[in-house]
Amino acid sequence: MAEVVIVESAETAGEVAADEIEKLVRANPRAVLGLATGSTPLTTWRALAARGLDLSQVRGFALDEYVGLPAGHPESYRSVITREVVEPLGLTPSLVRVPADDGPIETAGADYEAAITAAGGVDLQILGIGRTGHIGFNEPGSSFASLTRVKTLTEQTRLDNARFFDSLDDVPKHCITQGLGTIMRARHLVLLAFGSGKASALARAVEGPVTASLPGSAIQLHQRVTVIVDEEAAADLEFADYYRYAWANRLDWEKL
Ligand code: GLP
Repeated sequence: MAEVVIVESAETAGEVAADEIEKLVRANPRAVLGLATGSTPLTTWRALAARGLDLSQVRGFALDEYVGLPAGHPESYRSVITREVVEPLGLTPSLVRVPADDGPIETAGADYEAAITAAGGVDLQILGIGRTGHIGFNEPGSSFASLTRVKTLTEQTRLDNARFFDSLDDVPKHCITQGLGTIMRARHLVLLAFGSGKASALARAVEGPVTASLPGSAIQLHQRVTVIVDEEAAADLEFADYYRYAWANRLDWEKL
């Protein structure tokens, strides 16, 4: 079962997630981080940046990228990762990869998988969740065995992401994303969700049936998952009281 941590705000959640990353990097300065875009991880990056850790040796792999945006577009995930993660955290740009960064799109998925494997795999993967239940850009129906590949975005996801673009027409219809199989190979998954708009998808991911129709439910098959949510996103969790109780009563060695 996932460890579910219910906190009062996105800021507190960011601190809890930053604690996990800090522990990892203190143990291994060359750790491999799985990076996510979207608004959800922002408090984590902010909390981490405030700690002034030396993250210059950390290697990073982004979850996903749009396909079809002009190079250098400010909403490409390469631009977002540079602006919101690499620069504020002091990561080394050449150590951070985004799918389809270079080379032809046809082989980008296999190239990305090879790069992750060569780095020794992802130690800690930060995840958000979409309202369709997607993680990365793995929309409903994605195979639990899937690896990095090109996918078509749902209209719901395009609508949700239109706020970052001038118009809906500007939102790409395609993306390249780590697969659910790729994500499941990471050694620790840290999934964050905030706000009532995520409550349904979050509850289905954590407690619902494990099904490709709700890609986030794949996390139930992973042996080490930390889910960090605010009260609004936790609203539909059936076992919320138990999660609060377990967190309040965790053993000393679990706090380290
Ligand atoms: C985007 C990203 C996901 C992200 C999700 C939620 O489409 N590809 O990685 O988790 O949507 O976004 P947000 O955090 O802005 O709610």
